[in-house]
Amino acid sequence: MKVILVGASGKIGRGVDKAVSANHEVVRVGLADGDVQCDYTDTESVRNMFASVGAYDALVSAVGNDSRFRRFEELVDDDYRYGFERKFLSQIRLVSMGQSTIRDGGSFTLTSGFLSHYSNLRGFATGPFNAALETFVEQTDQLWPRSIRVNVVSPGPVVPAGREGRGRVTAEQCGQVYVRAIEGTMSGQVFRIWGGLPIPDSRGAAISNRRTPEEQQSTKRTGE
Ligand SMILES: NC(=O)c1ccc[n+]([C@@H]2O[C@H](COP(=O)([O-])OP(=O)(O)OC[C@H]3O[C@@H](n4cnc5c(N)ncnc54)[C@H](OP(=O)(O)O)[C@@H]3O)[C@@H](O)[C@H]2O)c1
Repeated sequence: MKVILVGASGKIGRGVDKAVSANHEVVRVGLADGDVQCDYTDTESVRNMFASVGAYDALVSAVGNDSRFRRFEELVDDDYRYGFERKFLSQIRLVSMGQSTIRDGGSFTLTSGFLSHYSNLRGFATGPFNAALETFVEQTDQLWPRSIRVNVVSPGPVVPAGREGRGRVTAEQCGQVYVRAIEGTMSGQVFRIWGGLPIPDSRGAAISNRRTPEEQQSTKRTGE
């Protein structure tokens, strides 16, 4: 298969590259690095990327630098716009603009992340967009023509090999899951690689575990 890998030089992208290139041709795409340069926030740049690659069988989006991590009190409108435009809109743009040149039965595999459910006090301008992307993938599943498949991978925190464990995964482990999404028949699915962490009962439930003792005290005092 010919696989476009957007964000190939990134932490997760390198793990995906290693796993996918074992059996497939990989076209590496990056903002500055790679076989083809493309800014996925720019429609014209995405159009040029697809034109230069030609027909392909799968696209993986693993683009980084897509979120601003600040405390809620410090977040301004532009921080939310930044995350929305990258995490959500730009990944969907790859799917919509990539429709005309993907082969029958081809697949798109996008990337969300564990902050959809296990947020922290600096994650509010990214976690909700992970969740929105997953909902988009689930809800649009019946829409795609020509047996095209769209899935999303949700990695947990990526750590160097040897440090993986509960709630921590390696780029290599991530790479294997993207391969499953590309080579399998699944569609409209969220592949969660959270190092054994369960899906919490509610998306906000896990936040309290990340609060400092001072913050937990202040929460108790205000009865929040
Ligand atoms: N790392 C983690 O622990 C973790 C955990 C959960 C979820 N995630 C999610 O996984 C995704 C990838 O994360 P990562 O840590 O692997 O990221 P990363 O290492 O920061 O990835 C950077 C990659 O993205 C490319 N890139 C940056 N801006 C771009 C743009 N505007 N257009 C096209 N390509 C662009 C870079 O290209 P150049 O090198 O050419 O500049 C590079 O290949 C993100 O959505 C992140 O939220 C990561």
